[in-house]
Amino acid sequence: MEHLKQDPHSFYSPDQPKVINLSWGIHELDTISKQLSATATWEFDTFGPTNFDTRELTIEAIVNSAGSSIPFELGEPEKVRGQRLSFVVPENKIVSITYKTAPTASGLQWMDAALAGGQPLVYTQGEAINARSYVPCQDTPSIKFTAKYSIRVPEALRGLIAAAEYNGRTGTDGQGYCIENWNMPYPIPAYLLAFAVGNLESRELSPRSQVWALPDMVDACAAEFKDIEKLMLIGEGLFGPYPFGRQDFLVLPPAFPYGGMENPCLSFLTPALITGDGSGIGTLIHEMAHAWTGNLVTNADWDAFWLNEGWTVWAEQRILEMYSSADEALVDYKLLESEFNSDCAAYKKNDQWEYTKLSPAADDIDPDDIFSRVAYFKGSLLLNALEEQVGRERFAKFVAKYIDTFKFTSIYVETFLNFVVAELGQEVFDTVRVREWVYEPGLPNNAPVLESPLITEVQKAAESSEIPSKDNVWSASMLQLWLELLPRESLTANFMARVDQALNLRNQANIEVRWSFLVAAVEAGYIEVLPDVEAFLNAQGRMKYLKPLYRALAETPEGKQFALEIFAKAKAGYHPVAISTIENVLK
Ligand code: BES
Ligand code: ZN
Repeated sequence: MEHLKQDPHSFYSPDQPKVINLSWGIHELDTISKQLSATATWEFDTFGPTNFDTRELTIEAIVNSAGSSIPFELGEPEKVRGQRLSFVVPENKIVSITYKTAPTASGLQWMDAALAGGQPLVYTQGEAINARSYVPCQDTPSIKFTAKYSIRVPEALRGLIAAAEYNGRTGTDGQGYCIENWNMPYPIPAYLLAFAVGNLESRELSPRSQVWALPDMVDACAAEFKDIEKLMLIGEGLFGPYPFGRQDFLVLPPAFPYGGMENPCLSFLTPALITGDGSGIGTLIHEMAHAWTGNLVTNADWDAFWLNEGWTVWAEQRILEMYSSADEALVDYKLLESEFNSDCAAYKKNDQWEYTKLSPAADDIDPDDIFSRVAYFKGSLLLNALEEQVGRERFAKFVAKYIDTFKFTSIYVETFLNFVVAELGQEVFDTVRVREWVYEPGLPNNAPVLESPLITEVQKAAESSEIPSKDNVWSASMLQLWLELLPRESLTANFMARVDQALNLRNQANIEVRWSFLVAAVEAGYIEVLPDVEAFLNAQGRMKYLKPLYRALAETPEGKQFALEIFAKAKAGYHPVAISTIENVLK
């Protein structure tokens, strides 16, 4: 285990007793008051004074294993870290905390029955530093622990936990409630603590995988993800045996703020992946690949977030190219580059160019507030640059050794850099200019360029503003890439009207294509699409879609007014993290 450093986003300090096991009993999920009541029993590696992280929690009692109370102190609320909870761990190293969450908890979304298959639905989103809003914990990814869970739910609903072993239902109480029991034998950091309760059904995909979703979606999900076993086998070829036993999926309603979240054994996904044309598979692969790069080897602090995401995008590409083809995989990667370019443009415009650093040392900022494609694209591109330098074969050995050396631990950026020097040599490290990649803003001028026959075909059509014919053979991703690559300077309302007439993209079944069309249309001032934009913003909650649309609207005073009006209504259906992100955009 590595020597721990102070995590700037946690109140825990490295010389204090740290947690090794959690026993989490969730007694009540009050969907009316939007509050969770629970007891978290923590076991520590040693005894003495320690600090926990909390945000908006009401601490009702802290007791030792004999039930006697332990004095505690709650610090003043801070904007980023929340509140410090301090107490002394007794000699037998066990502490039980009984608490209630706030209705505004940043890590919980409570959904009304109307939006969630006729029953209320609640789920967690811990990453980056939101677990502390639903469980008092040492909320730093440098600490890992095993866990046991019991969650009391209405018998008609399912209580799902991101854990490897389901131990069934107990304690049916005659009042329509029961307890679902789960066990997680593999150590995980606090940001991967996750559950969901709702009207959920499952379909089996393979002996180690099933998909959960609202009843009206579950068959379509099973059809879309039918190849999961094949994908897991490709992953195992790259990284070694799948490390967490099961790989299940939960497809949430469209309000889910991300494309996916790699909760261990149970990845959460947006329903936007269910396209029927296979274009969502990249995200499925991405969350599965996190099992190795993120959940097995974990960033030790949020400055190393690009290790989680850069490695996972790299893996996603390698798996996708074996599953489909290198050329098709590169189209998806080019789309990620386009998102990266938009993020960079926004940073440039707002004088925030320093956030294009892989490791921005943003100690005083909530990692959610600077979430962008920098970690994803620049991080993975650095790994591709290293791979190009040493060749695929040698890099594959390096990857295998990296996973094996750091499995079930958390690592810092410098640990990784030292590992690169030790395994690939100082010369490779210097030739690729790894330090410049990590600590300087923007892309270094030796960055690999993404080229392929399919990309060239799309690029040519985009540069000459040639509208593809309706019945051409392009995939949805290629059509989307064409929209993304249309030269922004020459985008006019007239041109977008012609695109609209020729291709009817407002009514495209593929949500990614529809979204790229709407963003380009708003940027071009093609106001005919505004009703469609409003409907889209009301129906979707994924931040990747919301941010660029609100950003594009806010470019003009009338557009901004329109955006504010939509947001005022739509935000009731958004996740707390999406609400604060859009508030920042519209500030
Ligand atoms: N771990 C992330 C989601 C995340 C990151 C949540 C930081 C909160 C804070 C997940 O694995 C992810 O990367 N999702 C992407 C998927 C895409 C790159 C295929 C997303 O949601 O867009
Ligand atoms: Zn990811």
